[in-house]
Amino acid sequence: MSAVRTVVRGGLVVTAADEMHADVLVEDGRVVALAATGSDTAASWTDARVMDAHQKYVIPGGVDGHTHMEMPFGGTYSADTFETGTRAAAWGGTTTIVDFAIQSVGGSLREGLDTWYAKADGKCAVDYGFHMIVSDVNEDTLKEMDLLVSEGVTSFKQFMAYPGVFYSDDGQILRAMQRAADNGGLIMMHAENGIAIDVLVEQALARGETDPRFHGEVRKALLEAEATHRAIRLAQVAGAPLYVVHVSAREAVAELARARDEGLPVFGETCPQYLFLSTDNLAEPDFEGAKYVCSTPLRPKEHQAALWRGLRTNDLQVVSTDHCPFCFSGQKELGRGDFSKIPNGMPGVEHRMDLLHQAVVDGHISRRRWIEIACATPARMFGLYPKKGTIAPGADADIVIYDPHAEQTLSATTHHMNVDYSAYEGKRLTGRVETVLSRGEPVITEREFTGRAGHGTYTPRGTSQYLN
Ligand code: URP
Ligand code: ZN
Ligand code: ZN
Repeated sequence: MSAVRTVVRGGLVVTAADEMHADVLVEDGRVVALAATGSDTAASWTDARVMDAHQKYVIPGGVDGHTHMEMPFGGTYSADTFETGTRAAAWGGTTTIVDFAIQSVGGSLREGLDTWYAKADGKCAVDYGFHMIVSDVNEDTLKEMDLLVSEGVTSFKQFMAYPGVFYSDDGQILRAMQRAADNGGLIMMHAENGIAIDVLVEQALARGETDPRFHGEVRKALLEAEATHRAIRLAQVAGAPLYVVHVSAREAVAELARARDEGLPVFGETCPQYLFLSTDNLAEPDFEGAKYVCSTPLRPKEHQAALWRGLRTNDLQVVSTDHCPFCFSGQKELGRGDFSKIPNGMPGVEHRMDLLHQAVVDGHISRRRWIEIACATPARMFGLYPKKGTIAPGADADIVIYDPHAEQTLSATTHHMNVDYSAYEGKRLTGRVETVLSRGEPVITEREFTGRAGHGTYTPRGTSQYLN
């Protein structure tokens, strides 16, 4: 809690709904009031610490609904801890993450969730919540889902990919969806036909196709679209809403659009890597393509237009990072000579707000849509709104002073994520986070880290505000 009264003066406050030149009064970690800059009301706020935001945007802290800190994958762990990953999030103007606790096969949801509570406890620079990865659907798991929803873990990820690891078959998926339809949970789906993909992987390796670029070739867009279609229809049968994670293929966007046109409660997320990178990166020589191995995979550039369009038409509602970093040295290198052994995942938690601001500069989306897809909708989707995702009386004072004119160049030499490469090395961006308040506390102050591990608190969530 902040004992100090703070007023953020003179900026352009941008939320998903509005833009106005306003001063924002903060007390005890919450937004108390907004008043037009220069008004008598704003002028009466004299006994407060002043943060100057003239010529700047004042935006809600970002809500990244998809991260994997310290995630076990492919015989190693993603390289950011909750401490380093949430610090990097703060640098990038993200003040809430929702990470994924994992049920190990044969274990309970409870054990998995408690393990993740312990990993994050006392470590985070910004607030955090958890989704639960359900890798073993059985009678006990289904009952546990009810308990988790009442405890504030209101969303469950299932995988149609990775047979033998996280994979659920259609029967298990249907059962979990039926349970979610009853208990108010939201099923998040990794939609790729993993059984078919594993056949194509085996055949590619047998032909000697071992380079990272074959990761993109075997994980075909059609197999993402097929799984997306199947997940949608299973959810329809179960009477459950569905949120499809990391959508990358235009054919998968088309499946979502068709279902939404039919009136189904189906939602889609994409990630900056699919909007800004492509199979050209996967094909970089000297095994450099491994830096871009994630699933769903990067697609040919032609898919990007459909993703941007989906974000504009609201067939896609959220941009999360799927932040799951593995160092090139020693981690991505596990897959030299066999692309299927490259740990899947890319770094990104630090750059989502900036890359999406660049999309505003480039004319892909409006300023308010930027805030909608990066702050307000993920907060609503995952039961955090209006505590998170907006600037309004009563909301947590998670506020970013954003300089829309600053120029920056992304690089591993300057980023704060615990990973030895940048997926955007040398990319020039217009716009940069200047100051970040998390519940009223400055965690970044004029480009200096002023937060601490343990400031970030666990945030139980309500049910999705999109259920109805
Ligand atoms: O490649 C990815 N996306 N790694 C993280 C795990 C997942 O499937 O989201
Ligand atoms: Zn996934
Ligand atoms: Zn993920």
